[in-house]
Amino acid sequence: MASPQALLSRPMPDLGGPAQPLLSVRGLTKHFPLKGGLLNRARGSVQAVDDVSFDLRKGETLGIVGESGCGKSTTSRLIMALMQPTAGEVIFDGQSVGPGGLTLKEYRRQVQMVFQDSYASLNPRLTIEESIAFAPQVHGLPRRPAVERAQELMAAVGLEPAQFARRYPHELSGGQRQRINIARALALRPRLIILDEPVSALDKSVEAQVLNLLMDLKEQYGLTYLFISHDLNVVHYVSDRVLVMYLGRVAEFGPVDALYEKPAHPYTAALLASRPSMDPERRRSEPPLSGDPPNPVNPPSGCRFRTRCALAEAVCAGTVPPLAEAGPGHRAACLVHAPGSGHSKATAHAA
Ligand SMILES: Nc1ncnc2c1ncn2[C@@H]1O[C@H](COP(=O)(O)OP(=O)(O)O)[C@@H](O)[C@H]1O
Ligand SMILES: [Mg+2]
Repeated sequence: MASPQALLSRPMPDLGGPAQPLLSVRGLTKHFPLKGGLLNRARGSVQAVDDVSFDLRKGETLGIVGESGCGKSTTSRLIMALMQPTAGEVIFDGQSVGPGGLTLKEYRRQVQMVFQDSYASLNPRLTIEESIAFAPQVHGLPRRPAVERAQELMAAVGLEPAQFARRYPHELSGGQRQRINIARALALRPRLIILDEPVSALDKSVEAQVLNLLMDLKEQYGLTYLFISHDLNVVHYVSDRVLVMYLGRVAEFGPVDALYEKPAHPYTAALLASRPSMDPERRRSEPPLSGDPPNPVNPPSGCRFRTRCALAEAVCAGTVPPLAEAGPGHRAACLVHAPGSGHSKATAHAA
């Protein structure tokens, strides 16, 4: 059997080849029961994530975007197996996670996460070096090579080891702490990194530096990213494909250029119209998004976006829109794009 040191020196091997998705999410659902009242009985549930499915291709950056509360973080926690789904499953490179498949330990070596809050993710009592070396040691790497790896990774994220190794998290800026969190995520040689609002707490100038660092590291280490943000511009900048979520469901997904140039879902169009534009040529005609999303405890029937949608018709209240084709590799959950749906703007008959 290979030593832990040898096993930890490189990523786990590619199993299914380049055409097999690195991650497949199938029907992922999380309903949080709402408890309260006299007997603390369940009174409905928060439908945080509802029947979400997508594939993550090897080597790509898939962006997930949507307003606050639409279920992005719950999706990432479900994928990380930090909570049990109500329904659905996650397949990693052809293998399930759990009994009969990958153990949680094997899975978590290959899938790492970076969160928004750079401070909360770090143990304040560990030096930067100890913090990065911690997980490899837990996985069996002896102290000396673990420390060597920590120093190599500090350099890779742009922090001079001689200057930073012995410092504590409170002695660093937010941007420097986020670089350390990225180094920690890399320490087990993962294949997939889930980045949940990784730059949302940083100043704009620092944000650009950290995004560029992430793109460089992706090349250098052959990574795949699931990049979550509420910021459309950030997602546009980093993603190959984009998935738009609304109230726990997939509203639209597709190649980044197609989705930003020709959004198919009225929600995506409204989101894009709501962002400040520097270029008057590119101002949009769609009405911008107003108000907040409805409560996920009692989401609207049929299409969840219909209560804020300029194109809503009676049919939208009675039919859950399927993910209809809107272009090559491009789908939108909108009855306008579903032939024969009965919406006045849809083609009358299914092809
Ligand atoms: N542990 C929880 N218990 C109950 N409701 C939750 C919990 N976590 C998240 N929610 C609710 O689920 C919905 C989605 O939240 P979240 O996944 O954090 O959205 P996002 O990351 O897109 O802002 C929100 O309505 C939120 O209040
Ligand atoms: Mg979130």
